[in-house]
Amino acid sequence: MSLIQWTHFPPLGDNRGSLVALEGEKTVPFTIQRVYYLFGTKLGVSRGFHAHKKLQQVAVCVTGRCRMVLDDGQKREEVWLDSPTQGLLISNMVWREMHDFSPDCVLLVLASEHYDEADYIRNYEQFLKMVNK
Ligand code: TYD
Repeated sequence: MSLIQWTHFPPLGDNRGSLVALEGEKTVPFTIQRVYYLFGTKLGVSRGFHAHKKLQQVAVCVTGRCRMVLDDGQKREEVWLDSPTQGLLISNMVWREMHDFSPDCVLLVLASEHYDEADYIRNYEQFLKMVNK
């Protein structure tokens, strides 16, 4: 199965413009415990380079674009995030990297857990050992 799994957020706009609602346990397949967003990412900066033991996330590029790389230790896939109506599902135990942020990129992330540094796996070799054991 591909690592690239989307959830679609139907635009609810009218002739005034667009509106998207994100609802936990509906289009977002978990209870949303935390929301954060990346913006103002400097040119040439890449982010991420970690996996999570437990955390599930949905990433939506509200404005602009960036390139997401996902890696489960067996395969590596990449995709452009550039639509405010498409959320990328990122499971636990998936290594993620974000590259090529456009200057206007606002990347919204919905998370299934509160922030917990102990949930991070920041070392790729350690990640490979954990998923391929
Ligand atoms: P980090 O997750 O390493 O950023 P990225 O993966 O996007 O490169 O987070 C950067 C810093 O922000 C790190 O010191 C942890 C802190 N942080 C929080 O305090 N709360 C949060 O919800 C997140 C996502 C990060």
